[in-house]
This record gives sequence, structure tokens and C-alpha cells, in this order.
Amino acid sequence: MRAIRGATTVERDCAEDIRAAVAELLGKIAEENALSEEDIVCILFSGTADLVSYYPARAARDAGYTFCALYSSLEPQIEGALPRCIRVLVLAEGSGRSHHVYLRGAAGLRMDLKKIAVALDGPSGSGKSTVAKRLAAELDILYLDTGAMYRACALAALGEGCPFEEDAVQELMSRIDLRIVYRGGAQHTFLGDRDVSEEIRRPEVSMAASKISAFPCVREKMVAMQRKIASEQSCVLDGRDIGTAVLPDAEYKFFVTADAATRAARRGKELAEKGYAVDLKKLREEIEERDRNDSTRAHSPLRRAEDAVLVDTSDMTVDEVVAAIRKKIGEKLG
Ligand code: DC
Repeated sequence: MRAIRGATTVERDCAEDIRAAVAELLGKIAEENALSEEDIVCILFSGTADLVSYYPARAARDAGYTFCALYSSLEPQIEGALPRCIRVLVLAEGSGRSHHVYLRGAAGLRMDLKKIAVALDGPSGSGKSTVAKRLAAELDILYLDTGAMYRACALAALGEGCPFEEDAVQELMSRIDLRIVYRGGAQHTFLGDRDVSEEIRRPEVSMAASKISAFPCVREKMVAMQRKIASEQSCVLDGRDIGTAVLPDAEYKFFVTADAATRAARRGKELAEKGYAVDLKKLREEIEERDRNDSTRAHSPLRRAEDAVLVDTSDMTVDEVVAAIRKKIGEKLG
């Protein structure tokens, strides 16, 4: 026996809208779970208390579901509940994984079921990785730090004394064994058997990453890996070119930025916490140089996608940025 859940919302409390919504929801559930008439044992509906004009069970009968038991009930009136929502539980014969279906306004109820991509691009030190990590945790989806991948390429090059020239970099990329592994929800970056997640944060790796990421052979390889990861699950990706090149069709795109002084101060704090000596003036110069490298390179430069929402975090706390981005995501989902 399979138990399949679903939900949808209607614009208006009227028979016409409820009929259409129920037919759409049941149609999708049958399609995604490859259900035939014989499989369906019963369909149980509940509706929020603001839906009083038509029984969802009757709408199901109208839609041709006359071969199984149908039942509707009224939900308690919970404060803050999604309005005009119809929920369903379909019991069906057979085994295998159930594909639950959440449509329209109800899609936001189960973000874990809907495959989405959130692209967060922006310059170094804009706070995007902190925000991306928090956002992914709150949405309960994967966080992919794409900068870590370019940093690992740079570390491999530095470790081998590989010159930053096309042929040498290409040769390195043809044999690099770079893997992204998740442990306890946290991203770990491996070069061969070596977990380099900490090493790639070293200041000299930052500048080398900016340089190596300009090589098309590096970008092509990294972008293919990033697309594969994003195709397998919902995730928040942070980088420079996610919204423009890696996932131009991402549903949610943000360009997170801050002025150079704020960014240098943030990076400085981060490095000081890790025990590195910090020269703020030098850090700011380096950040500006990386900005120049990243935004003037020929291949996929750092650029705000036209449909990305601009978030200037200079005078915002992390909590405020996360809340602003979540609000935008919620508005689009609604
Ligand atoms: O975000 P970060 O500082 O860890 O990134 C390191 C470098 O990698 C950055 O200077 C530019 C490059 N990068 C890129 O070109 N494209 C990405 N999607 C992510 C990072």
C-alpha cells in the first residue's frame, strides 16, 4: 500500500475553482505516481475552514473518481494557516516510493519536496556564503559553495607549482580528482583522499582561485559538476556566475553585494578569528583586485543577472539579509 500526500490552494471559495483545483491535484498525483483506477483505494480530503461552498470529495467525483471511496473533512481554524487550502491523502495499492504533490500556494508548505535552485552571486566578502549557508539550513536544502571548488583547483596548482598558463592548467584539469562530499550537512572539499576544506581558506589561495577561475577549461569542468549537483536536489548555490551562466533558469536569483570597506572589514574579522594576522588596507586592496579580476575576465565574469534581486548588505545584519531573501522567495512561491 502507498500513502500519497498532496495539497493545493484555490483563488476563490466557489464550486468552479474547487472542482478545477481538485481535478488538477488528483491528475498530477496519478501522473507522478503512475496510478491507474485499479490502484486507488480511497481519497481523503481536508479543507481549511474558509472553504465552505463545495466538498472536495464531490469535486473528485465530478472529475471521474467514482471507482474509489471519497471523503472530505473540515480542518480546524489554525491562526496563520495557509488560506483556501485543500489537502489530500491518496491510499493506493502497490509498493515503491510515493511522490507527494504540492501545487500553487501549497508548494511553499513542503519546500523539501519541490526541486528548487537559489542562486546567490556577488563579490568576495559580500556575506553571501554566510547568508547562503543559513538560507539552505532554514529551507532544509543543500548548500553548494562553488568558490570552494575554484579554491581547490588553485590549491592543487599551488601544491604542484603548476604555472598559471593555459596548457599547464588544462593538463592539471584533465587529471584533477576534485570531489564535493557532504558530512552532517556540511560541504567538504576533497582533492584525492585529502580533505582540503580548511586549507583552501588560506589567504594566498584566495588570490590564486581568482586567477585560475578565469581559465575556460577550469570553468567548464567546475560548471558541469555544479549543474550535476543542482540537478539532483534542491540547493542554494553561491558564486559569481550562478544566475548568469551555471543556472540561468534558476527560480530565485540574488546579487548580494556590499561596499569594499565593509567587505574588507568582514573578511578581516573572519581571518582574525582563524588566527591570521590582518592588514585591513592590504585586504581591501586585495578584495578590489579580486573584484577587478572576477568582473573583467572574458569567460563568465562576475555580473548581476538581469532578473537577479539586488541586495546591498553594507548596512544589514545577516539575520536581516536572510529574512529579506526568504521574504522574496515566499512572495514568488505564493
Ligand atoms: O567565493 P570565494 O571567495 O570562495 O571564491 C574564490 C574565487 O573563485 C573568486 O575570487 C572567484 C572564483 N569564483 C568564480 O569565478 N565563480 C564562482 N562561481 C565562484 C568563485
